[in-house]
Amino acid sequence: MRHYLSELDLTKEEFLQLVHRGREFREQWESGELQTLPKPHTMAMIFEKSSTRTRVSFEAGMAQLGGHAINLSPRDTQLGRGEPVEDTARVLSQMVDIIMLRTFSHDIVERMAESASIPVINGLTDLLHPCQLLADMQTFAENAGDIEGKSVAWIGDGNNMCHSYINTANLLGFDLRIACPDGHEPDPQILERGAARATRVESAEAAAEGAHLVVTDVWASMGQEDEQAVRELVFKPFQVTEEVMALADSEALFMHCLPVHRGDEVVAEVLDGPQSVVWDEAGNRLHAQKALIEFLLSESVN
Ligand code: CP
Ligand code: NVA
Repeated sequence: MRHYLSELDLTKEEFLQLVHRGREFREQWESGELQTLPKPHTMAMIFEKSSTRTRVSFEAGMAQLGGHAINLSPRDTQLGRGEPVEDTARVLSQMVDIIMLRTFSHDIVERMAESASIPVINGLTDLLHPCQLLADMQTFAENAGDIEGKSVAWIGDGNNMCHSYINTANLLGFDLRIACPDGHEPDPQILERGAARATRVESAEAAAEGAHLVVTDVWASMGQEDEQAVRELVFKPFQVTEEVMALADSEALFMHCLPVHRGDEVVAEVLDGPQSVVWDEAGNRLHAQKALIEFLLSESVN
């Protein structure tokens, strides 16, 4: 049984195979080819946090593969009334083929995976956002080639996306420079485990210097909305501006998982400018998701 809770659940070869397959799915989709799997499958999607891209890409992806996705909100399922995650996992395993879960604490996806007899996908937790990294790496490959040996700047919060970049830097072999305010560093254990490829630097400028990819994310993630005003002050020096982008490689790409706050973590001129590939990046969620679903279903025949 294979799950995708973290980038590190895949080998480097498997991750690259999924990126390659995502690119094939994109080409087939653009040329109007059918992409149905040999047998129809059903996905249960559980969202304990809001979502546009993850929800639509999984639901549209399942439909395009000839299957079906059921959206389960805690508000109208028994999970929201206290039915244990483990019992929910066992019940869903009797009825569907694959589960996607977006939640707060990472241990909830781990508990779901331990009790499920079908694959479980992490659709974002407070700790990691591994589905986004498949789409980001596909977008880099399509626009700039092989990322191995390249340098990537993470500018902003040491959050779930930053953690996923640390994991992926180590898996695929690129160098990650992280610029974040004191008190908003990445998880020390994740940074220590990823220290071979990920280093903290003191400023946005130091991170951006010569980088082939500049990435940022919101200053206040889901669940931190109350901290928005305070964070705006602390994070201001970590804004991605045109001046910061000018320090990066002349061909550098800009990415953001979205949703974005223009004028906070990135200025509109960069987000909507020529180096930004954020719309491709968002669109690639669809193709990367299909590659992931196909892989997990084929690896988990029982
Ligand atoms: N990037 C991303 O995961 O977007 P959603 O929150 O809209 O799913
Ligand atoms: N760090 C953001 C990512 C949203 C896709 C959050 O967790 O809200």
